[in-house]
Amino acid sequence: IDELLAEGVAGKRVFVRADLNVPLANGEITDDGRIRAVQPTIAKLAEAGARVVVASHLGRPKGAPDPAFSLAPAAKRLGELLGTEVAFATDTVGASAKETVAALADGRVAVIENLRFNAGETSKDDAERGAFADQLAELADVYVGDGFGAVHRKHASVFDLPARLPHAAGYLIATEVGVLKKLTADVKRPYVVVLGGAKVSDKLAVIDELLGKADRILIGGGMAYTFLKAKGYEVGISLLQEDQLPKVTEYMERAEKTGVELVLPVDVLVSADFPDLKGKTPADFETVDADKIPADKEGLDIGPKTRELYASKIADAETVFWNGPVGVFEHPDYAGGTTAIAQALVDSDAFTVVGGGDSAAAVRILGFDENAFGHISTGGGASLEYLEGKTLPGLAALEG
Ligand code: 3PG
Repeated sequence: IDELLAEGVAGKRVFVRADLNVPLANGEITDDGRIRAVQPTIAKLAEAGARVVVASHLGRPKGAPDPAFSLAPAAKRLGELLGTEVAFATDTVGASAKETVAALADGRVAVIENLRFNAGETSKDDAERGAFADQLAELADVYVGDGFGAVHRKHASVFDLPARLPHAAGYLIATEVGVLKKLTADVKRPYVVVLGGAKVSDKLAVIDELLGKADRILIGGGMAYTFLKAKGYEVGISLLQEDQLPKVTEYMERAEKTGVELVLPVDVLVSADFPDLKGKTPADFETVDADKIPADKEGLDIGPKTRELYASKIADAETVFWNGPVGVFEHPDYAGGTTAIAQALVDSDAFTVVGGGDSAAAVRILGFDENAFGHISTGGGASLEYLEGKTLPGLAALEG
């Protein structure tokens, strides 16, 4: 982007593909980290006199307009952060977008509506995606890719559009890639990885890769129960991906052989009532050893012994990568494990990276100071796929 700025962008329409896919509750943004993360790129372009057209997806609407997934709240928040009025187009490539962009003065910013309101954005058909990219290209003279959280998606605005316009990477992508590089080449050891989140199937490829790279892998979240089951424990009504048991068993054996410490919870918080927790008091929840989960209960967080164990495994690390909450942190009674992991990262002298929309949101929602971490990535799937060593369509397109 610096090269682009040096060439001059005044009066040019610059399309910024951002990732403004922020968590919303009742139309209110609960964590604006992703908007703040792309703000420097947008601000710099506006300062330089560009007519900035910001685009993003939000959620997973079905290729047609759906008010529940409008980008309007994100546009409003962007305006507040920039301290300037941000225009909003109520469609993506239709009359409103065209008029809004045409009316943009130099140095002003507009946001167009959710890209996924158009089926062409996510289409698997190259021609359909290409046709949508053609329409998007009409709105701009230059493309800046800065939606790091979406670079693993082969979508029209991420992959096809940059091929149609002069393009550059924004500051956020440059920072994110710089950090992730530190986790792949010459990583400082011990390298400890904490993996959480609901589904083990989302993490298999990264575990596969990390078994040859990390020194310790600490497992939490819903995915832990598939590991505990593979170890021979009963997991009650906890989240379980039966079909992944063979793979998980293979990984546990491989870890054993290669000397990678694969650490599982030794105790967990369980309840029979989740997600219907209304009116329940903490007395309804109990902590049990990981091999004693009652048949009618579901594991919802790592227990106190596990928190201590994981903190001790993090304490002497030189590098820590954490992806995925280790409990249902959205509920205060099950936020203790995720809080303990965040605290262990804050307390360690290691270079710490928090990756993943959920864990990044968790540390902010739980009140941690972002600056206490080495880096908080805006990418969940994107950072995982980067660490898996995959070619990311959105990065490849910017290099081309
Ligand atoms: C994310 O939240 O990880 C990114 O915004 C990508 O969203 P997606 O998984 O719906 O493509």
